[in-house]
Amino acid sequence: MQATAIAQPNIALIKYWGKRDVDRNLPAVGSISITLSDLHTTVSVELEAGSTGDQLSVNGVENQSMLPRISHCLNTVIGEKRPRARVSSDSNFPIAAGLASSASAFAATTLAAAAAAGLSFRTDQLARLAGQASGSAARSLYGGFVELKNVGDAIDLTGLCDVDSWPLQVVVAITETGPKATGSTQAMEISRKTSPFYSSWIEQQDRDLDIARTAIERRDFEQLAAVAEHNCLKMHSVMWASRPPMVYWNCATIGCMQTVRQLQASGCNVFFTIDAGPQIKAVCLPRDVDVVSEALIETPGVQEIMTTGLGPAARLIDKT
Ligand code: PMV
Repeated sequence: MQATAIAQPNIALIKYWGKRDVDRNLPAVGSISITLSDLHTTVSVELEAGSTGDQLSVNGVENQSMLPRISHCLNTVIGEKRPRARVSSDSNFPIAAGLASSASAFAATTLAAAAAAGLSFRTDQLARLAGQASGSAARSLYGGFVELKNVGDAIDLTGLCDVDSWPLQVVVAITETGPKATGSTQAMEISRKTSPFYSSWIEQQDRDLDIARTAIERRDFEQLAAVAEHNCLKMHSVMWASRPPMVYWNCATIGCMQTVRQLQASGCNVFFTIDAGPQIKAVCLPRDVDVVSEALIETPGVQEIMTTGLGPAARLIDKT
């Protein structure tokens, strides 16, 4: 009754921001993401006799704050009448800092929980279950370029392009490692209720998705870069115009955006994207990865960089 799964975080190029059903955690818009290769979360789920008292350790330390969400995820996958669980989650990158650690953690938890309980689900079913815990987690059940669509009252996921067909690189510039001030669920609801730009954001999303999907089909880096940066800045404009305003950036985040602009002006194939945190993710062609990494690590305020390619879907690595 024990299983271990590994999942990589994914970075949205066309973002999900806002929910159409908070109780079922259904996103208000579709999204397109890339699953990463070198950042990962490994989750073990051990089911044992007894019906109460789940336990969670995160990077080797007992964690009470994430436990309710993990227990809820286990209920969704296995059912509420289940044995108690001992869950351990280990990530090789900063968690709760806008690096999509919840995506990899809940994708791996869903997969490990199903296997530990002896349940077999198709990948699309697992993705829907993971999506109930964290909207972006659904996408980590797939590798490479992934589209999440809203279909009826559910989500549907498709692999748009595999890792080898367009092996882009991502340089993550870490500018701050503390947990974020406002979690994404709460922040999305503040945006929905108060941002004057929220309705335009929702209206324009299908057009951005179409442009990005076509750019990926054609391997058109420039077109993907333009729509991804535009979509990211629109999402942050929605947040900035919310009440209270939500600004996840710091000075180094803006410094990194300027660095990316300078790289673009010098002919580099690179673009940035930023999630609900102060880190910059610079997406580039493999031939430009060294120059992008050097420029970002030299940008004032950048603490560390991590370089990664695109990676595979979440997978089971052990079951006993
Ligand atoms: O899945 P959540 O609740 O962590 O929300 C993810 C929100 C963004 O990272 C900002 C955008 C996205 O599509 O991943």
